[in-house]
Amino acid sequence: MSPFHVTRTLPEDAMAAALRADVQHGLTSDPKWLPPKWFYDAHGSDLFEQITELPEYYPTRAEREILVARAGEIATALPARTLIELGSGSSEKTRYLIDALTGLRTYVPVDVSDSALTQAGKALVAERPELDVHALIADFTAGLTLPDTPGPRLLAFLGGTIGNLLPAERAEFLTGVRALLSPGDALLLGTDLVKDEQVLVRAYDDAAGVTAAFNKNVLTVVNRELGADFEPDTFDHVARWNSEREWIEMRLRSRTAQTVKVPALGLAVDFAAGEEMRTEVSAKFRQESVRTELAAAGLELAHWWTDEEGRFALSLSVAG
Ligand code: SAH
Ligand code: AVI
Repeated sequence: MSPFHVTRTLPEDAMAAALRADVQHGLTSDPKWLPPKWFYDAHGSDLFEQITELPEYYPTRAEREILVARAGEIATALPARTLIELGSGSSEKTRYLIDALTGLRTYVPVDVSDSALTQAGKALVAERPELDVHALIADFTAGLTLPDTPGPRLLAFLGGTIGNLLPAERAEFLTGVRALLSPGDALLLGTDLVKDEQVLVRAYDDAAGVTAAFNKNVLTVVNRELGADFEPDTFDHVARWNSEREWIEMRLRSRTAQTVKVPALGLAVDFAAGEEMRTEVSAKFRQESVRTELAAAGLELAHWWTDEEGRFALSLSVAG
């Protein structure tokens, strides 16, 4: 069987320190917030996979439709020998790219979720014995050091996960991506597109309550890692469209006035009845906004593909 390596670029105590810093900052801010990357422990990664199959959650199906139709064109435009994927999760849709890239030698999935990376990596090496899979447990917002693998390299960032970064974080992230690209490399970026508000809100507030459980999972993570005493059932899931910023905002709303203790940080955090804490933004894009943000980071949009209904886009860009 082909090689499968997992490298942890950040030691576990660095991840723990990052969580402590984020929780300290977010829970002492007004309004309160928590960053979305902490949703993804093993249970959160599993809940996300369930979300991708919900009837209301269209982005995964729309992006898969584009990949099925366009993987050949993508491979022709960039016949990569190395495929690097940020926030790779289950790597499920990536298989269309891997199959189309006939000269591909190495796949480098990068994720904070070691459970998702390990499951996906093991499945992939069993299915594609010729592929060298070099998984990286890393935070893609914290400056990446990639293994030295042959070019051309295609850096894929699928799923619309870029929308989970705030605008300033996106600008910094894209500048970092630009710095990773050598001449001949390219970025394949998945972006969810602005659409009818009801369709968007339903995608983030599904009837079965899976997204609500995903949202509340961040409280369970903080309880487990920092000894906090959040009672997830005392918070309601909220998904709201912000038409000015063109993003969905997920929040957790405290049902009652309550005090939550976070012993690892020596914090006692007061929530008023009805107080909302932001846990995620999921920005939606237009072609021009994607082009402009890429250009600001020194990247030039070369291809733009959407699904038939125009719900989601994949773009290929190169260093400008
Ligand atoms: N690309 C997959 C998964 C999207 S879910 C798809 O399209 O279906 C988002 C993924 O990004 C999760 O697996 C999560 O663990 C990972 N992730 C979120 N924030 C991250 C960060 N800062 N660094 C690395 N991985 C991150
Ligand atoms: C990973 N990311 C693109 C998802 C999204 O749609 O913003 C995360 C998610 N949040 C709620 N549902 C799915």
